[in-house]
Amino acid sequence: MNSILFIGQIIGIIPISAVLLFLLAKLVARHRLSRVHDGRGYAVLITGCDSGFGHQLARCLDHKGFVVFAGCLSPEGTGALSLARQSSRNLKILKLDVTSEEDVQQAKRTVQENLPEKGLWAVVNNAGITDWAEIEWSTFEDFRNMIDVNLFGSIRTSIAFLPLVRAAKGRMVYVSSIFAFFNCLNMGAYSVSKRGLEAFADCLRVEMASFGVKVSIIQPGNFGQATNILRMKSGLDIWEKLDEERKQIFNRQYLELASEYFMLTCKAGFKDTTMVIDAMLHAVTSPQPKFRYLLVSVLDRFFFRLFPFMPTILTDAVFSLSHMYGKRKELLYAK
Ligand SMILES: NC(=O)c1ccc[n+]([C@@H]2O[C@H](COP(=O)([O-])OP(=O)(O)OC[C@H]3O[C@@H](n4cnc5c(N)ncnc54)[C@H](OP(=O)(O)O)[C@@H]3O)[C@@H](O)[C@H]2O)c1
Repeated sequence: MNSILFIGQIIGIIPISAVLLFLLAKLVARHRLSRVHDGRGYAVLITGCDSGFGHQLARCLDHKGFVVFAGCLSPEGTGALSLARQSSRNLKILKLDVTSEEDVQQAKRTVQENLPEKGLWAVVNNAGITDWAEIEWSTFEDFRNMIDVNLFGSIRTSIAFLPLVRAAKGRMVYVSSIFAFFNCLNMGAYSVSKRGLEAFADCLRVEMASFGVKVSIIQPGNFGQATNILRMKSGLDIWEKLDEERKQIFNRQYLELASEYFMLTCKAGFKDTTMVIDAMLHAVTSPQPKFRYLLVSVLDRFFFRLFPFMPTILTDAVFSLSHMYGKRKELLYAK
């Protein structure tokens, strides 16, 4: 009887000790991790700082003492000029069109020549564009433009700057979107670009782990009202791009409805960027950045966390059973 009790106690102690050891190991590891309390001596490069998330992150990291290399598409534009005006002398505006190899190489030379003593700590791949259209309303060029900026732009920038970030055992941050996994009507080109971006970031994370470089993905939801990302277009704008064959299929009235619906949905989004900027700051400065930051409302969080794991028949049904999809089906081929 006694020996059974003894064995029982041993069996009970093993998992508890394992959990305690695990927690202790995590505590030690956390203590050992490099901390960036303030940015003094470190540099960061952010792409797409003319407006939106990039612009605001650049200001925050400047306040935290980082040397900020703020990549701007238009270094003489109002966004870049106001950023320079509102920041310290540690913030440097760089001309950086991420679709241009020449710009990226020139930016790299400038960064290397002006690196502070602790090197390049982080690259935030933020530059991006968006648009909305059904796949059949789009041209190959529409897809190419989107992918050139959102995907190849980040890959080009990453390949150029990785050696510097690796030397600092720093951070690579990628601004993706919920549309990387939430495949819905009208977002085909954008989704392709962001899903590709996440595939790149996921592969990079595995490769960089052995160098001590951490890779994070930021997945904002609807912040269209809070930045300059939205490209306004009416049903007529889309209609005029369609050829005669497509005009027979996609009804003009539906295009107007789709356009109104899109604008209304965007207006329902977040009006300020705090949640995204906080996540970006965490990814850059926390000793334990997350792999992914999903930035949607508390109510939507459960749905978006579940969505990637739902069977396709259910994820498709989310759209095919919606009111707009019904309207679309009704109006297809209608005169
Ligand atoms: N806002 C949202 O709801 C939302 C949601 C999910 C993901 N995102 C992502 O968040 C990132 C930042 O977007 P945002 O919302 O802050 O929009 P934004 O205000 O338009 O900022 C995007 C920035 O990228 C710049 N840019 C465009 N093409 C570029 C290029 N070829 N090279 C370098 N820079 C370029 C833009 O310059 P210009 O201003 O001169 O065009 C702008 O400064 C993007 O990757 C976007 O996909 C945004």
